Amino acid sequence: MTDYRDVNRANWDERAPAHAASGGYALDRFRADPEHLSDIVRFDLPLLGDVAGLDGVHLQCHIGTDTISLARLGARMTGLDFSPASLTEARRLASETGSDVEFVEADLYAAVDVLGAGRFDLVFTGIGALCWLPDIRGWARVVSGLLRPGGRLFMRESHPVLWSLDERRDGLAIEFPYFETAEPLVWDEPGTYVETDAEFTQNVTHEWNHGLGEIVTALLEAGMELTGLVEHTSVPYEALPGKMEDAGRGEWRLEDRPERLPHTYTLQAVKRR
Ligand SMILES: C[S@@+](CC[C@H](N)C(=O)[O-])C[C@H]1O[C@@H](n2cnc3c(N)ncnc32)[C@H](O)[C@@H]1O
Repeated sequence: MTDYRDVNRANWDERAPAHAASGGYALDRFRADPEHLSDIVRFDLPLLGDVAGLDGVHLQCHIGTDTISLARLGARMTGLDFSPASLTEARRLASETGSDVEFVEADLYAAVDVLGAGRFDLVFTGIGALCWLPDIRGWARVVSGLLRPGGRLFMRESHPVLWSLDERRDGLAIEFPYFETAEPLVWDEPGTYVETDAEFTQNVTHEWNHGLGEIVTALLEAGMELTGLVEHTSVPYEALPGKMEDAGRGEWRLEDRPERLPHTYTLQAVKRR
């Protein structure tokens, strides 16, 4: 039987160089301006607060733009991802920009074994991370396992309601699971979420949704206390093509009555002492 990790890793490995070359990730801006931050981290700033001096880990860091942004804010950052091609891009950008960030190749569920338990003050993740994981309770145990008592999870993620919509249907049609399912949703899609001329052959992905209640409950069961949950009317990619307008600063929202849809959420939780 094909392991979901092999299928998904092949998809990400093929897309990583195209993402690094695309204007969407704006690597040139990181190289040109030592104070440049990714749009994602810039959006987070009001809720994120001061991270200077924290030991931070970015789970599913991809090509490292958010990880390096957090390092630029003064955190001592480690990035973890299972895609070697993504980490090649991340390490190259760190070296080109003189960023002191360690990038580690590992599966998410092996993160505590690979990085060590209770090592971090901050776990940062999100924006297209949870959908690759079949078991949200296992993910929450990893988050809690990596944190010191009093350490914090900060994540902004696409909303599970957004991920349950079928973009091909008129209006807003819930078509796909909102709750976690045993079986993945299997997609076969040739493109990616940034503009690129690259052509891809590794197009199959296995993905899962997780309801907001499932995510919060998994964190509570793993020894975390919820400290913040804010839902947003924008998302940092064109999640529903043809139905969204550019909201500026890398954000997109529904063109028609965006207040109908929670596009993303920021969840914060602290590990109980
Ligand atoms: C959309 S990116 C999220 C990062 C960030 N929001 C960004 O846009 O750069 C998703 C990342 O999750 C990684 N990933 C998927 N499944 C994983 C797993 N089981 N373990 C570790 N990383 C995984 C992929 O390699 C990819 O780099």
